[in-house]
Amino acid sequence: MAGFYRIPLAYFSISSKYIFCPCAIHKTLPIVQTFLLFHLFVVVVYPQADLTKAVITLQPPWVSVFQEENITLWCEGPHLPGNSSTRWFLNGTALQTLTPRYRIAAASISDTGEYRCQTGLSVPSDPVRLEIHRDWLLLQVQSRVFTEGEPLTLRCHGWKNKLVYNVVFYQNDKAFKFSPQNSEFTILKTSLSHNGIYHCSGMGRHRYTSPGVSITVKELFLAPVLKASLSLPLLEGHLVNLSCETKLLLQRPGLQLYFSFYTGSKTLMSRNTSSGYQILTAKREDSGLYWCEATTEDGSIVKRSPELELQVLGLQTPTPVWFHVLFYLSVGMIFLVDTILCMIIHKELQKQKQWNLEISLGSGPKKNVTSYLQEDRYLEDI
Ligand SMILES: *[C@@H]1O[C@H](CO)[C@@H](O)[C@H](O)[C@H]1NC(C)=O
Ligand SMILES: *[C@@H]1O[C@H](CO)[C@@H](O)[C@H](O)[C@H]1NC(C)=O
Ligand SMILES: *[C@@H]1O[C@H](CO)[C@@H](O)[C@H](O)[C@H]1NC(C)=O
Ligand SMILES: *[C@@H]1O[C@H](CO)[C@@H](O)[C@H](O)[C@H]1NC(C)=O
Ligand SMILES: *[C@@H]1O[C@H](CO)[C@@H](O)[C@H](O)[C@H]1NC(C)=O
Repeated sequence: MAGFYRIPLAYFSISSKYIFCPCAIHKTLPIVQTFLLFHLFVVVVYPQADLTKAVITLQPPWVSVFQEENITLWCEGPHLPGNSSTRWFLNGTALQTLTPRYRIAAASISDTGEYRCQTGLSVPSDPVRLEIHRDWLLLQVQSRVFTEGEPLTLRCHGWKNKLVYNVVFYQNDKAFKFSPQNSEFTILKTSLSHNGIYHCSGMGRHRYTSPGVSITVKELFLAPVLKASLSLPLLEGHLVNLSCETKLLLQRPGLQLYFSFYTGSKTLMSRNTSSGYQILTAKREDSGLYWCEATTEDGSIVKRSPELELQVLGLQTPTPVWFHVLFYLSVGMIFLVDTILCMIIHKELQKQKQWNLEISLGSGPKKNVTSYLQEDRYLEDI
């Protein structure tokens, strides 16, 4: 195990030497190689670093307690062989304790702050903010930040463990749960709608109200979007790739999403690690509404895409060449016939005109008209 962690650490020291001391590389390595090393550093070291982070757990599990209550912090992380020493920090200052257990007996206001721990082979843990209160009623939670899908337990806790009944839980000043006996309530699967400020009120000797606790629920991945590889509408016989596209918003070592594809009441593919689905030869019957789902392995988060309408058009039988030839030929023929007809008609008309003229020249009164016209011509010529 130790060797497994040492390899990335070695990469870290090599690459960080080149990154933080560029003057040295200029002499030995060209810039390009520096970039290559930098990429090695990002790809190889970063995911490993997360694994070795120490983790603090609380006992009892609440991040806020009353004064005079006892609370124990435990630190988990990889140790050096033969050395189980653990370091503790409060607001960044090292504490005396060197054991994996840090016990606060009869908490006081001065114990309030951000705790971190570190073991021999771990990087410091994420901070845990512990609050010590003086009040009648306290709304206790196990964490103030959650990832969607995680359960959230709310405990309406009375000073000196006094019995509290007729408890009301509020989110953003709006009551959402009344509990006559039980002072604990669990939201089994948190979602973004559970963000907000929570408080509780309960009956003891009087009705008491707790201070507010701000809860943040973070999104692990975006709701997926179903996309088709070809632009719509599709033609019959084509291959269509459907992809269920989403985006991870938080880093989770070992996180695997599963994808399902649906159309109408049919399941096309159920819980596959592949985010793609192929319709090998689209048929007209494949037309319809499609959607997909992305889920975590334990099913704690299920997100569905909007529907995508696929329309598969039947193929228009391709027009054969002889049809085109015939078509243009007939158009050409019509044009030719038209032209010939036109010419014939034109000629006929001219013949008729000449004939009319001859007739009019032969008749009496028309003659005068023509001669008048001719006289006008003469005038114009002069
Ligand atoms: C805290 O622990 C001590 C023993 O170490 C015990 O006497 C005391 O009752 C505990 N206090 C509470 C509030 O549980
Ligand atoms: C730690 O910091 C918090 C807030 O920054 C402060 O309220 C608290 O008193 C500090 N605790 C100690 C022990 O210095
Ligand atoms: C154990 O490791 C710590 C550093 O994590 C070091 O300060 C301490 O001297 C080591 N103790 C022994 C016995 O090696
Ligand atoms: C569909 O996906 C396969 C592999 O998953 C790929 O080979 C093919 O080119 C894709 N086709 C289209 C039209 O995108
Ligand atoms: C998951 O999808 C791949 C490719 O699309 C397929 O080869 C495999 O059989 C599927 N697995 C299951 C369990 O359906």
